Amino acid sequence: MILKCRKCHEPAVVNMRQHKLPLCAAHFLEWIPEQTQRTIEKYRLFTRTDRVLVAVSGGKDSLSLWDILKQLGYQADGMTLQLGIDEGLQYSDQSHHFIEKFIGDFWPGSILHTVDVKSAYGESIPEVARRTDRGNARPCSVCGLIKRHEMNRLAHELGYDVLVTGHNLDDEASVLWSNVLNWQIDSLVRQAPILPADRPGLARKAKPLCRCYERDMAAYAVLRGIAYIYDECPFALHATSLQHKAALNDLENKHAGAKLQFYLGFLNARERGLFTLPEEDAPALRTCERCGQPTGTTAGLCTFCRLWDKKQAVVK
Ligand code: AMP
Ligand code: FES
Ligand code: ZN
Ligand code: ZN
Repeated sequence: MILKCRKCHEPAVVNMRQHKLPLCAAHFLEWIPEQTQRTIEKYRLFTRTDRVLVAVSGGKDSLSLWDILKQLGYQADGMTLQLGIDEGLQYSDQSHHFIEKFIGDFWPGSILHTVDVKSAYGESIPEVARRTDRGNARPCSVCGLIKRHEMNRLAHELGYDVLVTGHNLDDEASVLWSNVLNWQIDSLVRQAPILPADRPGLARKAKPLCRCYERDMAAYAVLRGIAYIYDECPFALHATSLQHKAALNDLENKHAGAKLQFYLGFLNARERGLFTLPEEDAPALRTCERCGQPTGTTAGLCTFCRLWDKKQAVVK
């Protein structure tokens, strides 16, 4: 049986089983921005007078997000971090190529801020991971640290009201799954579609795609004609986050909507105060003497700044 679009009865190209909603391409391309707008309003992420900085990686989620925000009339500029990851795939160069192509094809004249980690700090991600013990042969943890720091720095220094990332429902549900499996209470308290700029040096952060399934975001990019980098980061191939995603997909295949329900149930519980810590349990944060960002470390410098100090010691 051919499924028909719920809105116009033409043949459907996408069937969102979690919403029991088959749609044709044209109506699907309208529905995703509408859903994003609903998320922005429901969780009060930002408004059309805010200056928004979109962190773009060259992947389907962040490029689609930038596209959707532009269509919805938001003042959205882009930022990207050149990580210097090659691994025989020219991963970082490819990623940058797709971002440039997206701008040229869809939104010429858009502002893109680029930070090249090697030019700015002297080492690419694989280089800094090899030098430090944080990498454990895999650079993902040091990479995450650098990304978080640099995204926050740029948003803050350039005076943007909010930094947005392309995290989708599958990302959020798998992080939630992991936080629950390990009962990471502090992480559960912080996991939300919006993080306020409640400390000096901190930018406001939002995830407008947190209710959109990853496969729907892929469909959006393809149907809209956005070319994006298909490959996962070569270092992430065996990451536990991918295993968690696979486990949740198994569940989803048996029970359509399970992933969405898991995440939205958590957000509802959060709104009702189930995941708040008493004031006295809030981690004591200091301000880094060098970069001014909040830090949980007791020394004067944050972990990011200490990363490059160690380099000085090696070079000398
Ligand atoms: P990931 O952690 O790779 O799943 O990426 C999550 C989100 O972080 C993406 O949707 C982007 O918004 C952002 N992001 C990841 N890598 C980069 C990068 N190299 N430059 C800018 N933003 C990035
Ligand atoms: Fe950072 Fe893969 S190690 S994106
Ligand atoms: Zn239709
Ligand atoms: Zn610092």
